[in-house]
Amino acid sequence: MHYHSTGELLLLFASLLKIVAALTVTEDTTLTGDQTFSEAVTIEDGATLTLKEGSVYKFENDLSVHGGLVLDNRNVDGTVSFNRESSLNVTGSFELAVSNDVDMFFTSFYNSGSIYVKGSAVVQPAVTFEGLEVFINDGTIDAGSLDEGPAHSAIAFGDAFDPKKTPFINNGKVVVSGTEKFIEGNVVYLLAGNAVSFYAPVEGTGSVEVTNSYIGLNAETKCRRP
Ligand SMILES: *[C@@H]1O[C@H](CO)[C@@H](O)[C@H](O)[C@H]1NC(C)=O
Repeated sequence: MHYHSTGELLLLFASLLKIVAALTVTEDTTLTGDQTFSEAVTIEDGATLTLKEGSVYKFENDLSVHGGLVLDNRNVDGTVSFNRESSLNVTGSFELAVSNDVDMFFTSFYNSGSIYVKGSAVVQPAVTFEGLEVFINDGTIDAGSLDEGPAHSAIAFGDAFDPKKTPFINNGKVVVSGTEKFIEGNVVYLLAGNAVSFYAPVEGTGSVEVTNSYIGLNAETKCRRP
């Protein structure tokens, strides 16, 4: 009996601490430590969810950011993972600070708000975006503007290792700005700048602004102007 109830107690603690089921955030909320979201996460307009002091963040279902999401995982051993069978819908602001590569692969990737990638001073983490069926940016996807002091990051559209035909439809802005000089005289500091690479075909009427950074285009990349 004693062991039985201890077991139940541990289970209860485990589910309170580790697994967050369907979550709708309606007011500013901060969660510290590792998090697994097994059900959909929706952050409503006007509310911000802050995730910090963890090293493993797992989103196993749809993620909708209509307010703010601040995810801080600047831990070189840390991981942030998403489920490629789910959808991402950002109409608010999503700030992602990482020190390790993150694959943001979704069946439906839609952004009409802002997605900010903050880099790391010691490594250049790569954040890769992909929408397997819907892959649309009507807002801003930014690597670097929110960096505080020297930091590096790389973003990619489409998976370099498994390029898909689904075009990245950019009607908004992609902004990539390094905090340090990338080229000085005839010297190129490859790791000093930020980087953006396009592995998916690119369509749409949007723009790509690159400062102190490196841009990579694959052979299939097409740019269309309005
Ligand atoms: C994203 O969410 C907004 C607000 O809920 C909704 O109107 C829109 O249809 C969604 N877009 C996609 C592509 O899911």
